[in-house]
Order: sequence, then C-alpha cells, then structure tokens
Amino acid sequence: MAKPSASFTCTACGAVHSKWSGRCDACGAWNTIVEEAPLSSGPGAKALGKKRGKGVVLSDLSSAEAPPPRTKSGLDEFDRVLGGGLVPASAILVGGDPGIGKSTLLLQGAASFARAGLSAIYVSGEEASAQVRMRAQRLGLADAPVRLAAETNLRDILTTLDAERPDIAVIDSIQTMWLDTVESAPGSVAQVRAAAHELVSFAKKRGTAVVLVGHVTKEGQIAGPRVVEHMVDTVLYFEGERGHQFRILRAVKNRFGPADEIGVFEMTGDGLAQVLNPSALFLSERDQPAPGSVVFAGIEGTRPVLAELQALVAPSPLSQPRRTVVGLDGGRLSMILAVLEARCGIPFTGFDVYLNVAGGLRVNEPAADLAVAAALLSAREDIAVPPDVVIFGEVSLSGALRPVGQTENRLKEAQKLGFTGVVAPSRSKIGAETGMTVRQMPDLTAFVGDMFGAD
Ligand code: TYD
Ligand code: MG
Repeated sequence: MAKPSASFTCTACGAVHSKWSGRCDACGAWNTIVEEAPLSSGPGAKALGKKRGKGVVLSDLSSAEAPPPRTKSGLDEFDRVLGGGLVPASAILVGGDPGIGKSTLLLQGAASFARAGLSAIYVSGEEASAQVRMRAQRLGLADAPVRLAAETNLRDILTTLDAERPDIAVIDSIQTMWLDTVESAPGSVAQVRAAAHELVSFAKKRGTAVVLVGHVTKEGQIAGPRVVEHMVDTVLYFEGERGHQFRILRAVKNRFGPADEIGVFEMTGDGLAQVLNPSALFLSERDQPAPGSVVFAGIEGTRPVLAELQALVAPSPLSQPRRTVVGLDGGRLSMILAVLEARCGIPFTGFDVYLNVAGGLRVNEPAADLAVAAALLSAREDIAVPPDVVIFGEVSLSGALRPVGQTENRLKEAQKLGFTGVVAPSRSKIGAETGMTVRQMPDLTAFVGDMFGAD
C-alpha cells in the first residue's frame, strides 16, 4: 500500500486539498491552509477490506423515549442559553475572544452545577491549579465541590474522566490539549480536531456533559477547523466589547434548544453577574432628542431587547469615504446605503459613515434595517427622531419594507419602557389596542417623506 501522504486542510472551512496554496478554492479564504500529518485511521486512510463490522441495533422513530433529563445550574442566564438546563452526554463548545471571560463563566457555571448536586471536574490547560483556585476564591466559589486539574495531556485526562465519570467536565481550552497519537503541535488543526473528537466520543459513551472552551481567531472563527462546530451538540459564543462590562452568551447552534437564545452578564469585580432583565440595558441616557440616534425594538432569541443605534455622517476628505460599523454587519450597512441612494435618491458618496450599537450589543436581525436607515438619515439631515419612538422593519432591495416576526412582543416591551410611538412596515400587524402612536409605511421612500420631509 502507498504510504499515506500529508494533506492540507483549510482552517476556515475544513476543506482538504492535495497541496498547499495561499487561497482555499472551497471558501476563498486566504492563508488558512495548513499541513496535516497523515491520518492513521479515519475516512480515506484505508479501504474497508474484507473484515466485516458487527450489526448495529436499529429502532423505530416511534420508540417512546423520555426527553433528556435536564439539570439546572441555578445560573438562569446560562441555563436559558443551554435550552433549559444541561443535558447529560451532550458536548458543548463555548467560543470567544481571549480575555472576554470564558474561564470565569465556566468556573462559575461548573460551581453552580456542583452546588446543584452534579459532580463536576474542571480541567485547565492554561492556568495552574493554584491560579484557578485563587480565581475561585475571588469569585466566592471556594466551597463549591468542583474538582480541579491542570493538565494538557488528553490521554491522561480521558483516563481520569473515565475513572471518575463526572456529570460535567469543563476542558479549558481545546486548543491547549494534545494527543500523543497525533504528530502535530498542540493548537494545530489536527490536534484540535482529534482532541475534540475524543472528548465528544467520551461524552456520548459515558454520559458526561463535556464543555469545550475554544478561542476565537481575529476573523471571529473558533481557531481550528469548523469541523469542531459540527461535532458538538451546542455551540455558544461569549461575546462583548472589551471596553464594556456587558457580556452576551449566545447559542448559535443547539440540538437541545432554540438557537439564537441569549444570556446577558455583567463583568464585575466579583466575576460575572447575571442581568435578568436586559431589555433596557442597551439604551443610553436619552432625555434630549439627538440627531443620528434611533431606538430599535429587537428580539434576541425569545427576548425583546431595545437597542440604541447611533449614526454619524460627516463630509469626507477621502476619495474612498469610511464605512465604520460596530455591533452590526458591515454588508448590511452597505446594502441600506445602496438602497437609500438607488431607491430614494439620497447619496452618501462623499460622506464618512459611522454606525454603532450602544452598549456593546451585536444586532444580527434584518429587522434592524429600517432603524439603521432612520439613524443614517437622521444623522445626514441633522434632524432628530423623537426620543420616545421605536423603529423596526426589514428593507428589501426594491426599497419595500417587509414585516418582521414577533411584532407584539417588541411593542409590549417598548411600551413597558415608556415608549409611546412606533414606526413599522405597513404589513406588520399592529392592533389598535397597543395604545401607541403607530406609523406604518409601505416603503423606504414613504418613510423618508414622512420622517424627514421628502427631499
Ligand atoms: P477570563 O475568564 O480569564 O477570560 P478568558 O478565559 O475568556 O480568556 O477573564 C479575563 C478577564 O476578566 C480579565 O481581563 C479580568 C476580568 N475579570 C473581572 O473583571 N472580574 C473577575 O472577577 C474576574 C475573574 C475576571
Ligand atoms: Mg481562559
């Protein structure tokens, strides 16, 4: 048999290439292809040959199996994002920028589960046990029955976990773990993938819920191949702006609950504190009407969150004016600028455009389009939107406004927080019983005419 040769894997999309190149053909990313040692097993390594496997037990779809028993940690924001508690034998990946608070969150999480009666093990590959202990003391968790280890050798860790059979095991972080069967260095794609595979199989076999911590690269991807995200049941991202104290734990994939659910925390001197009612958190002080500032009535997972969007539009000395966005998708901003220009005749060429979501929230909903357009126009025309009005609606490329989901939820929250007016697409179903001043528009042109006087 021919000697297996090294393969080249794209760390962004996981595509395998036969030779190295600067750009991945599959996903178009640059400088993401790395060399991997040949696999001794796994797909493609050897043909199946004559040896027969053993039969697999098949069952019906209708087999009555109880839903997985869940354990709540008592850390409500964490439980919510998990879909209502921890599911045994599940594999969870928690990704986030270095220093955002992943270790703090999971130490607090593990302690909460331990106090709720689960046996918990926390393995740190980045800090010494003494450091973790010191942190636990600072967080007031020293009495929680969590057992610690500082280790990076996965073979030893698996042997220990197998002997202990804990209910939950936290591995902090997957990038520091290494297996002696894989030749490449810890943190390499091959190591991360093999380590994750071993840990996920352990979770499935032994019923332990395994939580993997993963660092995120500059491009916002969990370092190592996307494959890790596919392997686990649940992918959570811990996000927030470094300068802000608020942190959001977001489910981007969850086999056991709704995706896009969020939990909100505040980083304090004593660790992460839960923010149980975050809807008003992302509103800054807004007594005076200010041009460029608009309140968007958003939904994060199942919860309404009101967020302030701030725009600044200023004449630019540059031949290619700046487009700077914090907390929103840059592509979405470009689209809305293009629609304003093409459908409403309002050009932004020659202007620098800055757009910011206050408080460090990230808004992913297309429902924010209309609020973005309003903030941009308000900043450009220097006309303030009344401060007691919320805005939502999706903008299509034709300039038409599309209705968005959960209208009632958005309005209820806005009203609760003292907003008296709403601007929304015509087709959004808003009953008279809301008691708010409702202005509904079919398209962006009508909106511009209504809010800023047609020009
Ligand atoms: P950490 O959990 O170590 O981040 P990660 O594991 O994601 O790299 O958190 C590091 C930051 O959190 C650090 O900059 C200090 C801050 N922090 C607090 O503000 N309060 C605290 O009680 C703790 C433990 C950390
Ligand atoms: Mg850490």
